[in-house]
Amino acid sequence: MARESKKFPNLIIVDHPLVQHKLTLMRMKTTTRGDFRQLLKEIGMLMTYELTRDYKTHSVNIETPVAKMKGEVLSGKKTTVVPILRAGLAMADGVMEIMPRARMGQIGLYRDQETRRPVEYMVKLPPVENRRFILVDPMLATGGSAAHAARILTTHGVAPHDIQFMALVSAPEGVREFHTKHPDIVVYTAALDEKLNEKAYIVPGLGDAGDRIYGT
Ligand code: PRP
Ligand code: URA
Repeated sequence: MARESKKFPNLIIVDHPLVQHKLTLMRMKTTTRGDFRQLLKEIGMLMTYELTRDYKTHSVNIETPVAKMKGEVLSGKKTTVVPILRAGLAMADGVMEIMPRARMGQIGLYRDQETRRPVEYMVKLPPVENRRFILVDPMLATGGSAAHAARILTTHGVAPHDIQFMALVSAPEGVREFHTKHPDIVVYTAALDEKLNEKAYIVPGLGDAGDRIYGT
């Protein structure tokens, strides 16, 4: 279950009850690190259903133990999952659980504490030709990290329509910034929160995702 946002174009809110339930558990400050990580992975799995809704299939002839039949299998471009480190990795684990044959790249970014701008420390991508990409990061706050990561993909030659961005919680400021830079990339998020605070944290949000996952 998902709906288009009324506030922003190219923003899909994944409002499935299971996703919303798990997100609420994640938001609670009493949720343990282990539970937080597990819930993030589970939401990554569930959101994958929505992101892949329009994937094409073609029929193949198969034989069950009982009879011959035509079955549907995925066709078209293969998928590469690209988490933005660190927090994106735990969510991408869920995506990979559903699509175990997908390839995975990594983009390592952290937000400079003073400037709040992303600092790049690692890019590792498989060949991009004839593939589509799911960029994964639980937090879309100022949008700087997501926009930077998407630019890395496009400068490697990936067309914007071959990129989808999976975020868990988004701030309106981040969606706006991301779509200013990448208007054609669809953002899928479980929640569009209220705002950013003075430290550029999402309100109400869930705190620092990387710290809650890794205990830093
Ligand atoms: C978090 C989050 C995003 C970024 C979002 O990462 O995982 O990558 O902040 O903020 P932005 O939209 O304002 O750029 P962080 O920089 O804390 O790094 P970490 O995941 O390694 O902890
Ligand atoms: N990064 C996080 O992990 N949380 C926020 O609220 C903002 C950026």
